[in-house]
Amino acid sequence: MSVWAILVAAGRGERLGLDQPKAFAKLGEDPLLAEPLRRLDASDWIDGIVLVAPPGWEEPSILLAEELACSKVHSCVPGGETRTESVRAGLAEVPAAALVVLVHDAARPLLPEEVIERVLASLSEGWDGVVPGLAVSDTLKRVGPDGAVQETVPRDSLYAVQTPQAFPSDVLRRAVADGAEATDCAALVEASGGRVKVVDGDERLLKVTTAADLAKIASWL
Ligand code: CTP
Ligand code: MG
Repeated sequence: MSVWAILVAAGRGERLGLDQPKAFAKLGEDPLLAEPLRRLDASDWIDGIVLVAPPGWEEPSILLAEELACSKVHSCVPGGETRTESVRAGLAEVPAAALVVLVHDAARPLLPEEVIERVLASLSEGWDGVVPGLAVSDTLKRVGPDGAVQETVPRDSLYAVQTPQAFPSDVLRRAVADGAEATDCAALVEASGGRVKVVDGDERLLKVTTAADLAKIASWL
């Protein structure tokens, strides 16, 4: 079974608010992108990597992969305006022979090997997609634009979903082909009728959105 990873790093990082894209924010000594790249490259489960870089940042991205001696990086392409467009750009570089595609957010740098193993193990049971998720622990309310609570939403069946997300490559190709948009790949597969499973996620897969997230992840390293 050949497994290819698409590492999406093309976002602007507006909520982080730096001069450079989020993928090049400093996490310790290195750009943020270094950590997930190194981990995917070192994974026993991954055969090849397509890196989706911020437009105009392809060269520093390739240089970084070379510096880290990441031997599995097959290509680096510029991303699009939205995450889905970036995934589409990455998928176009994944060879037809790849059976499984794993899509991961560079903004979740601390990728544990056991999560990769978990999503891939479940995928082999025949699902159209497998995603890591954490049960929601806060009470959830639907709130109107005026701040008024409209409803308390029962949380028992609600999960906050993370990446890496795994799909049979033909399923993901079909799901992204029709130009639909979503905040994760699983939603595209669900919309095209696919059955997606949630497995245990990991707290360490926190997504860097704000400066506080970046500081927290740096302290965990
Ligand atoms: N992403 C991407 N291409 C885009 C938008 C997002 O590749 N056009 C990637 C980001 O690089 C990130 C992941 O998708 O790894 C999750 O996106 P998010 O956390 O929203 O990152 P940004 O879009 O960069 O941040 P912001 O929304 O604050 O601008
Ligand atoms: Mg975004």
